[in-house]
Amino acid sequence: MKIAILVGSARKGGNTDLLAHAFAAGAAEHNEVELISVSNVHVNPCIGCNVCRKRPNHDCFQQDDMCVIHEKLKTADLIVFASPVYFYGLTAQLKAIVDRLHAPIRNEFQVKKLALLLVAADTIPEVFDSILIQYKSVLSYFHLADAGKVLVRGVEEKGAIQGNPALDEARALGQSIL
Ligand SMILES: Cc1cc2nc3c(=O)[nH]c(=O)nc-3n(C[C@H](O)[C@H](O)[C@H](O)COP(=O)(O)O)c2cc1C
Repeated sequence: MKIAILVGSARKGGNTDLLAHAFAAGAAEHNEVELISVSNVHVNPCIGCNVCRKRPNHDCFQQDDMCVIHEKLKTADLIVFASPVYFYGLTAQLKAIVDRLHAPIRNEFQVKKLALLLVAADTIPEVFDSILIQYKSVLSYFHLADAGKVLVRGVEEKGAIQGNPALDEARALGQSIL
């Protein structure tokens, strides 16, 4: 299996990063894994022009790092979305990547499964609800399977997730991917 993990926090070494790396360490035992962090790329938001529908390659006219990300996602069997909760949603940088998948070039993708890794400062039960609704709708629309989720509440400061059992949970989820 080829796995692409999209890390949505710009805070290097932060909670999302640590959770994504734990998942990656487990998954790398049986799979080819690549981490793509928003801290290392620049992706402009989709401007909704739909020019991608008319271009010969069905790609976006914007020449930024999404070109490279597209190439990596194209061959992935599993795509993992890893993000901190920002105002009950994904981070803007990760959402920009997701929105750029509007371009019909995505029809070349071979992805069959998604997984979700989320962290939040709050401990309220509903803190992930809006992202989970979005995730479920994406799975259904694209006929994808859920490979699993790790949702971590109550982590705010950089590195607060250290020692949290969620890191073992993420590693085990990674190991379960075959
Ligand atoms: C702009 C912004 C918005 C946030 N919104 C929420 C929120 O709605 N709910 C919540 O529980 N935490 C919220 N947080 C806290 C982060 O989700 C939390 O600190 C997380 O651990 C950061 O992950 P990171 O270390 O990977 O960046 C927000 C943080 C920022 C910077």
